[in-house]
Amino acid sequence: MFGNPISHSLSPAIHHAFAAQVNLPVTYTRSLTSLGQFRRAVTAFFQQGGMGANVTVPFKEQACALASQRTARAQQAGAVNTLVATGCGQLLGDNTDGIGLVAALHQHCQQQLAQRAIVICGAGGAARGVIGPLLAQQVSQIIIANRTLTRAQALAAQFAAALPATTKLYACCYQHLVIPPGALVLQATSAGLHGQVLPIRLHELAKAGCFYDMQYGASATPMMQLAQQAGVAQVFDGLSMLVEQAAAAFQLWHPDAVLDTAAVLAQIRAQL
Ligand code: ATR
Repeated sequence: MFGNPISHSLSPAIHHAFAAQVNLPVTYTRSLTSLGQFRRAVTAFFQQGGMGANVTVPFKEQACALASQRTARAQQAGAVNTLVATGCGQLLGDNTDGIGLVAALHQHCQQQLAQRAIVICGAGGAARGVIGPLLAQQVSQIIIANRTLTRAQALAAQFAAALPATTKLYACCYQHLVIPPGALVLQATSAGLHGQVLPIRLHELAKAGCFYDMQYGASATPMMQLAQQAGVAQVFDGLSMLVEQAAAAFQLWHPDAVLDTAAVLAQIRAQL
């Protein structure tokens, strides 16, 4: 995998656990590069026989530009987290983040998405990567809430043309966020990385049916703690999404692999 910082990445452990499940001799290692050296590093990796690679922030946009073909969901996200060698030096770029989130919500959090109201906190790359797959679930509405209102509005405008007839899409800032009762609130900002919490009004947060933080850690993230404090009944971290997006990438490289993601999630959780 290519990314920065990746020294604490769980991805090698996750991929090796999947490989052990299906008895495949997979070697998955980390490679730290720079924005200036990214293209050279990826090209060298595939020239040396690499089959596939994952890419993390801040290289997902560059990986999208580098891929010779892109899946529809990668195009929609404008970002690639998985590269697949398809022969003759060609690279397919996909984005498994959104389908990973949807699978995690369904399989590990028992969340219904059809007709559900979704609040996405954040309007950066992490938010953009999951909107398309969420829209495909026929959710009733998506509210993009962000510190910088214009970024939320720009992101909503980007998806306006792809909106199913029954789905509404709104943009707002946290101060004006009104959470529909029972909504699924997704935390897709990097605020937690700086130990900060989002300025969502507590009485609004209390109306959420479920809070899912795309960040994760050994203990509850600051935003998970706030959701618990607000009394949200179901609060989850993003480890399940990490495992599910990895499973989707693994299956791009090994299409016949049938994976038990719950077992790997439990194994990785125990190592945190
Ligand atoms: P990523 O690719 O991880 O999404 P990004 O594109 O830089 O990274 O986006 C970061 C997101 O986290 C943005 O939504 C950002 O809000 P702004 O658009 O207003 O910058 C949000 N974010 C980061 N730090 C934040 C903070 N302290 N409070 C609120 N939002 C924050």
